[in-house]
Amino acid sequence: MSTSERLIAASEARSAHNYHPLPVVIASAEGAWVTDADGRRYLDMLAGYSALNFGHRNQRLIDAAKAQLDRVTLTSRAFHHDRFGEFCEQLAELCGMEMVLPMNTGAEAVETAVKTARKWGYRVKGVPDGRAKIVVADNNFHGRTTTIVSFSTDPEARADFGPYTPGFEIVPYGDLAALEAAVDEETVAVLLEPIQGEAGVLVPPAGYLPGVRELTHSRNVLMIADEIQSGLGRTGATFALEHEGVQPDMYVLGKALGGGVVPVSAVVSSRDVLGVYRPGEHGSTFGGNPLACAVALEVIAMLRTGEFQQRAKELGEHLHHELGVLTGGAVREVRGRGLWAGVDIDPAHGSGRELSEKLMERGVLVKDTHGSTIRIAPPLVVTKEDLDWGLEQLVDALGG
Ligand SMILES: Cc1ncc(COP(=O)(O)O)c(C=O)c1O
Repeated sequence: MSTSERLIAASEARSAHNYHPLPVVIASAEGAWVTDADGRRYLDMLAGYSALNFGHRNQRLIDAAKAQLDRVTLTSRAFHHDRFGEFCEQLAELCGMEMVLPMNTGAEAVETAVKTARKWGYRVKGVPDGRAKIVVADNNFHGRTTTIVSFSTDPEARADFGPYTPGFEIVPYGDLAALEAAVDEETVAVLLEPIQGEAGVLVPPAGYLPGVRELTHSRNVLMIADEIQSGLGRTGATFALEHEGVQPDMYVLGKALGGGVVPVSAVVSSRDVLGVYRPGEHGSTFGGNPLACAVALEVIAMLRTGEFQQRAKELGEHLHHELGVLTGGAVREVRGRGLWAGVDIDPAHGSGRELSEKLMERGVLVKDTHGSTIRIAPPLVVTKEDLDWGLEQLVDALGG
């Protein structure tokens, strides 16, 4: 039995995680590459579902973490620490906003956005107590807490976890008329992913997101952008909404904000919205801790140069061009933006899972989603040569 096989058997026997992982056991990593427990190397074309935008063990992020580990890692929330103010100021500035509420995971940040929108609805908009409604899209993925799965349309994510949290209405993604019909006097927010990642990298029709912005403005409803996966450089801009010229009322961020080093998430908004909280009404033991702030500050500094967004834009154009060439054959459709693609393959060529396994055998890691779709999202530090090599493996795995 190889080391990998032994470790897989132990994980399967002892863990209740059920992520349908591919049979590879990663033991170390660097940049866009990972090495398994038996010493085989793989090009990581999934990048922690966009949590590793800056690559594995990015030296600047590791240095920032190490420096902070030597100073202070956690304080009681009863005290200030010297990285917190800086972090809030710089993240707010990056988002063109005023206030930041830090959390740890993406789901916690989405929960925070839901609570904030409800509180804003009662305190500012004047919605009658207990009546606040949030409109969401079908096929969404915002996390896995009980409230969030309450407004999921994915039976796998939802089944057996009821009773469900009320207060949400689900409309078809990309359908502005349906959204308009769902928004009423008691609606406090529309919560959307600007590009739906887990659903298969679904890009809404042109004009939809500006339409949502106009509608929410005119009806005094908050537009909440869940940019946990689409944000922080992935699409070739700091935020996916930038491509549409849209500024939301609230950003929900996570994943790459922690640079693949520590979990960091945040809700970023205006003083009018996030100012609804009084001390003690919301928070988290680890939210905004010194280590998280130190790493996130380095992430923000890296994004401020625009270098990673530019790489994602240029390499993304190349990726989409190359994938476009494959359409019509084994590839049915390619969607996405920047270094992010959902690739639908002809089911005659197998399932997304089978293709992911074939790619794994060829030294490339991707992940299937929904039947015959795979997702490609390499770290933004991937070289053009490595990307081309990964694409060659895809062509080969699809049968040449
Ligand atoms: C758009 C979006 N929102 C929220 C989440 C949940 O984040 P986390 O897994 O950190 O809770 C994810 C995770 O994939 C996501 O893609």
